[in-house]
Amino acid sequence: MPQKTIVLTGASDGIGAAAARQLAPSPHRLILIGRSIEKTRAIAEEAGAEWFTADFARLDDVRALAEKISDAVGDDGIHVLANNAGGIFGDRTPTVDGFEKTMQVNHLAPFLLTNLLLPELRASGAAVINTSSIAHRLFGHIDVDDLDNTRRFSPNKAYGDAKLANVLFAKSLHTKFHAEGLSAVAFHPGTVQTNFASDSSSVMRLLYRTPLKHLLLIGADKGGDTLRWFIEGTPGETWLSGAYYDERQLTAKVNPQVHDADLAEALWQRSAELVGIPAR
Ligand SMILES: NC(=O)c1ccc[n+]([C@@H]2O[C@H](COP(=O)([O-])OP(=O)(O)OC[C@H]3O[C@@H](n4cnc5c(N)ncnc54)[C@H](OP(=O)(O)O)[C@@H]3O)[C@@H](O)[C@H]2O)c1
Repeated sequence: MPQKTIVLTGASDGIGAAAARQLAPSPHRLILIGRSIEKTRAIAEEAGAEWFTADFARLDDVRALAEKISDAVGDDGIHVLANNAGGIFGDRTPTVDGFEKTMQVNHLAPFLLTNLLLPELRASGAAVINTSSIAHRLFGHIDVDDLDNTRRFSPNKAYGDAKLANVLFAKSLHTKFHAEGLSAVAFHPGTVQTNFASDSSSVMRLLYRTPLKHLLLIGADKGGDTLRWFIEGTPGETWLSGAYYDERQLTAKVNPQVHDADLAEALWQRSAELVGIPAR
């Protein structure tokens, strides 16, 4: 009898793939989500896991993914949802849904997936773990009326905003559902040598895609181990629900907007409106 059902997105590469490998072999039921069929199947076979694919730049893919996961888990529920897929991208690109790609892939898609899976998550008193980034503090400043950054776009600003949205979303999940047993957390995994920034025109490319990376970045295994620590941890003991962590450290170094409860609620309502789900 598996102990937990764990759904992990962004499992086909980098931190997610490292965490998936480290979780295996496991008493848990592991459901890996990627974008590429070939890459996701390869990691899933290695980890002995089930898998599905979806392109988060297409919200219809996310809706179909939620249905497949829901059908697969049935009444067993989901005990951990790790929203880890994401990245920094290039110039301002609208998705087929009409939203800026960085905000959609990093925030709107996982926001939709999590909301569509809420019945399964609430039934199990689940843990939702959002892979955020220190970029939320360095570059983020959210205007809920311009989540797409039509007025002031740069790849760093778009990424910082999206990763700040990950923190605010975890806080809102805590505010709305912790009393009934659901927990949520956001964390920075470290500055990790992965495929990150490969599609980006951001100056971060210099750090991630040149020999500098060998000096300044930690290995994917270390980032994956931090994600695994959150996934296997017990909320309230290993980590605190509603909080933001720098790797495994609780930290007060957050973007000032993280403390704005009205903004967190406004972001939830605006995100729900954009992805077409009822407000809560
Ligand atoms: N690396 C760092 O230093 C660092 C620092 C802070 C935060 N993070 C965060 O850590 C998370 C994992 O990143 P990583 O460093 O492991 O980068 P990565 O090696 O590029 O892996 C990113 C994962 O997200 C998936 N993904 C990207 N775009 C997608 C889309 N449109 N639809 C569905 N899945 C998509 C990728 O799928 P494919 O395999 O198909 O590309 C891959 O599985 C991200 O949320 C990132 O923002 C990373």
